[in-house]
Amino acid sequence: MKEVVTCFKEHFGEEPEHLAMAPGRLEFIGNHTDYNGGPVMGVAVDCVISIALTRTPEPTAVLVDRKLEGQVVVDLTDLKPLEGNNSWANYPLGVFNAMRESGLDMPGGFKMALASTLPPGAGMSSSAAFELAAAYAYKSAFGFDADRKQMARFGRKAENEFVGMPCGILDQGVSAFGEKDHIVTIDCKTETFDRVPMPAGVHFWVFNSQKKHALIDSFYADRHKECMEAYDILKVKYPELECLADASLLQLDSVSGQMSEILLKRARHVITESMRVHEMASALQDGDLERMGNLLIASHESSRHDFENSCDELDFLVDELKNLPGVHGARLTGGGFGGAVMAVTDGTFSEAIAEEACARYNERFGHSPKVFHTRTGEGAHIVAPAGV
Ligand code: GLA
Repeated sequence: MKEVVTCFKEHFGEEPEHLAMAPGRLEFIGNHTDYNGGPVMGVAVDCVISIALTRTPEPTAVLVDRKLEGQVVVDLTDLKPLEGNNSWANYPLGVFNAMRESGLDMPGGFKMALASTLPPGAGMSSSAAFELAAAYAYKSAFGFDADRKQMARFGRKAENEFVGMPCGILDQGVSAFGEKDHIVTIDCKTETFDRVPMPAGVHFWVFNSQKKHALIDSFYADRHKECMEAYDILKVKYPELECLADASLLQLDSVSGQMSEILLKRARHVITESMRVHEMASALQDGDLERMGNLLIASHESSRHDFENSCDELDFLVDELKNLPGVHGARLTGGGFGGAVMAVTDGTFSEAIAEEACARYNERFGHSPKVFHTRTGEGAHIVAPAGV
């Protein structure tokens, strides 16, 4: 938090009036179930995006990022998505736009600085952290009432409509509802958020393959479209289905003649993954860590073979990690098509053991993955400037 205050003071020559922060997330299980109305689980990590903000009378937004030179200046009376180098500002601007469109009174403008402890591109959703930190900074500055669910929805609306990414509510929901030592569970059909305690002694290790597919956004949009197409076919025969995740494997089987092999695989992933999330809830409740680990591996296999959003690098990491001592399970986390693998371990897993997997990865791919040992953290909130 101190870093963002320093950045604000250096750039604007005054103390900021409002501060907020929001965490990144790890998708625990429930891969691509969110926008299909299924269940999903995630944890907030202890790496965050912090925002410092002061309102201004004129309807202009001035945004600075500690790591970037210069500033972005935007006329809020004519707000449109930015392109090119300044497009990072679309996350907070999109939230501002979503809030204003919902009827909140947000007169004038603001000056904003941001700082991040989230490793860039590590698959922990810095975009949702940025959206939620901005949402809480606006809440503090403009003094309106909105609960966590509404805040998560503003973030998602920004991402869907302003940034142009057809994501579900997972990232924003976990950033908003995260709690230390807890897993956030979301029923995406009803948008019901809950938290369950994390089994004691569980650790999260993130292995960032550092591979990012150039077409990641269009791959994501393709999968989204394929899922909607599969749902449309199922709905003709089963009009009672409210979303793809509600379908059963038997129902899917009964329409297999009308679906391409690709659509069948996508739908099968969403249906079986939703079942795995439900099973995970009972494994966690029973404290059954072996079952938990097996579900994580099964989730990865389904992403790999049915949803086809994995890649050689992530498959290699999962195959290596699952056999190492102390590892309960491992799977790709987040959108896929590159990105990161999450290993869920006990307390005996160490840097030295992680290094074994990295060395073999290096032999195969010619570079090492970046490894982070993360803890669970608190959800998004306003921070009192006096406390910093
Ligand atoms: C990204 C999206 C989420 C979710 C995951 C895949 O992180 O932002 O909404 O769809 O991919 O489960």
